[in-house]
Amino acid sequence: MREEIINCKNQALAQIMSSSDSNELEGIRIAYLGKSGKLTSLIKGIKDVPEEDRGQIGILINQAKNTVIEEIANKKNSLSISSRKWFDPTIPGIKPKVGHLHLVTSAIREISDVFEKIGFVRVRYPEVEWDYYAFGGLNFPVNHPARDDWETFFVDTIENSKYGPMLLTPHTSSGQLREMERAKPPIRMINIAKCYRRQSDVSHTQMFHQFEGLVIDKGISIVNLKGTLDYFAKNFFGNNRVARIRPYHFQFTEPSFEVDISCDICQGKGCRLCKEGWLEIGGAGMVHPTVLKNGGIDPNKYSGFAFGWGVERVLMMKSGLNIADLRLLYSTDLRFLKQF
Ligand code: DAH
Repeated sequence: MREEIINCKNQALAQIMSSSDSNELEGIRIAYLGKSGKLTSLIKGIKDVPEEDRGQIGILINQAKNTVIEEIANKKNSLSISSRKWFDPTIPGIKPKVGHLHLVTSAIREISDVFEKIGFVRVRYPEVEWDYYAFGGLNFPVNHPARDDWETFFVDTIENSKYGPMLLTPHTSSGQLREMERAKPPIRMINIAKCYRRQSDVSHTQMFHQFEGLVIDKGISIVNLKGTLDYFAKNFFGNNRVARIRPYHFQFTEPSFEVDISCDICQGKGCRLCKEGWLEIGGAGMVHPTVLKNGGIDPNKYSGFAFGWGVERVLMMKSGLNIADLRLLYSTDLRFLKQF
């Protein structure tokens, strides 16, 4: 059997070596490895080999088979190279495809750059967070609708006696108290992170990103907030976009505002995405004294402002981008992503 296998292999290799085209090679493959090929019938015969030799013979025949397969592939390769009549080594090579940053990542970098230039420090805090940082410590009443199961993803685990249930943070405002615990004023924080909410439609995804600004120092007023908004609008959106501030209510700021920016798709006329010509970026306001106290900061000495906006939203509003459905951003569809 041993000899038979070696002979069969050598025969095959000799034929492969002298073959001159791929049809011939295919014929050789069938003759040795096809259904009733020579090597195949040797493999079938293994069952008749005495048991004590079977292991060794098995190994040998497998090696023979692999060698024949390999040599056929090598020969095929060399035949196809030599059949190319003319090779010009000066032609530039084919460039490998290179990926690029996801557009949300680039937006995050751009936003950080804009704020870092005026002294904000980029931070990130836990995405899996305690209720206290997301709600309780930010002055949310116990029965606030945002604390409903249908708004926020709660983690099914034991509650902490001090910090309450665990959740996926629904906004970057949870970074406000974390920052006050980490650093003493003057504070200039820009917290950019993933947030999670139970929502999904053309302008909402369950996972999205926010950036949260927090400034705390002596004598901080609405004037500083307004100046920062103007600075951001100019440096991120350019001059053709307009911002507006509307009085609003948030639990953790007083007074509170909602900041809108004119829609770039319809230029303020109203379309499927924005409906009324304005896109909501998010909220802003002066940090509530109770929140300062919770963060261990004396509201009689210090004041501050905060804002929290959606990264995907500001990205869409930025000129030139026309994304009709936000969910496409996370669909991993290369036809979509390659466009940017
Ligand atoms: N956290 C709020 C939200 O997700 C947005 C927000 C409003 C953040 C007012 C702030 C603020 O910092 O001052 O809807």
